[in-house]
Amino acid sequence: MNILLLGSGGREHALAWKLAQSRLLAGAKDKLYAAPGNPGIADHAECVTLDVTDHAAVIAFCDAHRIGLVVVGPEAPLVDGLADSLRGEGFAVFGPSQAAAQLEGSKGFTKDLCQRAGIPTAGYVRTASLDQALRALDTFAAPYVLKADGLAAGKGVVIAASRAEAEAALAEMFGGQFGAAGAEVVIEEFMEGEEASFFALTDGASVLSFGTAQDHKRVGDGDTGPNTGGMGAYSPARVLTPALHREVLDRIIMPTVRAMADEGHPYSGVLFAGLMLTANGPKLIEYNCRFGDPECQVLMMRLESDLGELLYACATSALASQPPVRRSRQAALTVVMAANGYPGTPEKGGAIDLGAAEEHGAKVFHAGTALTDGQLVASGGRVLNVTALGDNVTEAQAAAYAAVDAIAFPSGFCRRDIGWREVARESHG
Ligand code: AMP
Ligand code: GLY
Repeated sequence: MNILLLGSGGREHALAWKLAQSRLLAGAKDKLYAAPGNPGIADHAECVTLDVTDHAAVIAFCDAHRIGLVVVGPEAPLVDGLADSLRGEGFAVFGPSQAAAQLEGSKGFTKDLCQRAGIPTAGYVRTASLDQALRALDTFAAPYVLKADGLAAGKGVVIAASRAEAEAALAEMFGGQFGAAGAEVVIEEFMEGEEASFFALTDGASVLSFGTAQDHKRVGDGDTGPNTGGMGAYSPARVLTPALHREVLDRIIMPTVRAMADEGHPYSGVLFAGLMLTANGPKLIEYNCRFGDPECQVLMMRLESDLGELLYACATSALASQPPVRRSRQAALTVVMAANGYPGTPEKGGAIDLGAAEEHGAKVFHAGTALTDGQLVASGGRVLNVTALGDNVTEAQAAAYAAVDAIAFPSGFCRRDIGWREVARESHG
C-alpha cells in the first residue's frame, strides 16, 4: 500500500526508516510519502509539500495517491482534528481523534479523567482566572507546579520555588504568555522521584506495551541549564522493573484506555505516559498523544516487529490480532546534536559532514537539517540524533559517542553524559 507520514523531525526520520522496512511497503508499487520530511527522510520516502492545517488538501493528496495509511508524527495536527477529517473520508489513520488527543491537548481534561478513573497522579486544582489561581496557591506548598492547560510547545510548565515566584509566573500565564493555551492553568502538587516514559499502542480496546525510555530534558551536562525538547534518551528504562511495568499497565494505561472508550472518545494511536516513580508507586505526570522525540528514535532502534503492521492494526481496530511487540534485548541510546544557541535562538546554516558516523551500525537521524546546494546544513534547534545499540546502556553510550565524534558539525554541540544515571547503575552492578 502507499503510506503518508506527516512530520519533519528526528522522530519522523526514525519512523520513516522503520516503515520503509515494513512488509506493507514491500511491493514494487508500494510507496512511502512524507510531508514535509527532511533530507534524512528522503532516503526512505518521497518528500512532498502539504499544509497539514488544510485538511481538504491532505484529503485530496490521499485520494490522488491512493494512501492506505496516514501516520501522524507530531501532536499539533491531532489536536487540530486532522485524524477525524481523514477518517471521515474513509482513510486509515495512526493517531487519535481530536477528542482523544485532549489527553495531551488539555492538562485539565487529563487530570479530571484521572480523578474519575482513580488513576494515580498529583493532586491538582484547575483555575480559569488569576484571582482564582492566587487563592488556590493557599492549598499547596512550595515548590509550586503551574501548567498552562493547552499545548505550549513543551514550555507551559513552571516549577516555582517560592510563593512570590509562583505569583509572578501565574500573572504572566494569565497575561497571555502562552496565548489561548494559558487561558486555564492547572496547579499541581509537587511529586518527587525519578522520571520514566512508557509507550503503549492501542486501538481503543486492545493495548500492547511498546517500550520504555528515559530522556534528558536539560541542555547541559549533569542535567543543568534550561529545559529543551530533549537532549538524548535511552531505552529500555530498567528503573521500570517488571513489577512496576505491570503496575503502570494495570493502574494507569489500561484504566485510561477504558475510561476514554467508556466516555465516548476511544483513544487510538500511541499513548506516551510521562511517569514519576514516587515512594508511593508510579504516578502519571502527563500524557502525550504521539511518540516522544527523541524517545522514538531509541524505540525504533530496538524494534524488531513490523512497524507498518502495528500502526495499521492500531488504525483499523485490529490490534487484538497482533502478537506482542518484539524488541531487541540490547539497549539503545541517542545523543542529540543541537545548533549553537539552542534552546534559545539556534544558529542556522552551519555545515554538517556526517563522515563515517554510521560505519559501525549507528544511525544518524535527521532532526533539523536542510540541503543547500548539495551541502547538508543545520536548519533547526535539534539537528541530528546519533543513535546506537549496545549490550547495555554503557556500551550503547560508547557506540553513540564514537559516531558523534565521527561527525563534523562545528556550529553544533551535544551533551557528553547522556545515559549517566543508567551508566552509574550499571557500574554498580
Ligand atoms: P510536563 O510537560 O507536564 O511533562 O512537565 C514537564 C516537566 O515538569 C516534567 O517532566 C517534570 O520534570 C516536571 N513536572 C511536571 N509536573 C510535575 C509534578 N507534579 N511534580 C514534579 N515535577 C513535575
Ligand atoms: N522528549 C519529550 C517529548 O517528546 O515530549
